[in-house]
Amino acid sequence: MAEEAEKIRRETGRVLGRFSRKRGNLIPILQKVQHRLGYLPREAMLEIARFLDIPEIEVYGVVTFYNQFRRNPPGKHSIRVCLGTACHMKGGYITLDAWKRRLNIGQGETTADREFDLDTVACVGCCTMAPVTVVDDKPQANVEPTRVDGILLAFEREREKKHKENRESS
Ligand code: FES
Repeated sequence: MAEEAEKIRRETGRVLGRFSRKRGNLIPILQKVQHRLGYLPREAMLEIARFLDIPEIEVYGVVTFYNQFRRNPPGKHSIRVCLGTACHMKGGYITLDAWKRRLNIGQGETTADREFDLDTVACVGCCTMAPVTVVDDKPQANVEPTRVDGILLAFEREREKKHKENRESS
């Protein structure tokens, strides 16, 4: 935890060192900090607000307005539920609910063990496969709630296999 806080301070400081204290630099600063950290933690937003001498709520407002910005660290695996028209018609929201329940997180959040992060996407161009969930950049077809468990089980098996291989090689 202390390591993480130190990393946030260090990387944010490095980015700020390359900018002047102009309000107009807010978005480029946020982009660069996110590029380094993978997301925009509250401590970084606070630091940026102090640097630009603007209220923290203004920074927070920009971060929540643009969906290019993440407020949570990325997970090892990304889960993106398509909510384009075709997927929506085929129950995309029901699938999204199933992912939320199963991972125990909300949209835009990351599981506590940082294994998965969950979000939605607009049409990814595979409408005949609706409802689609994009798992680690690969569109998965017909992801209805019953398939959510199957996908997670495959990750679980993969993890166990790796553990076993590591144990055997050490
Ligand atoms: S609407 Fe989901 S892939 Fe097109």
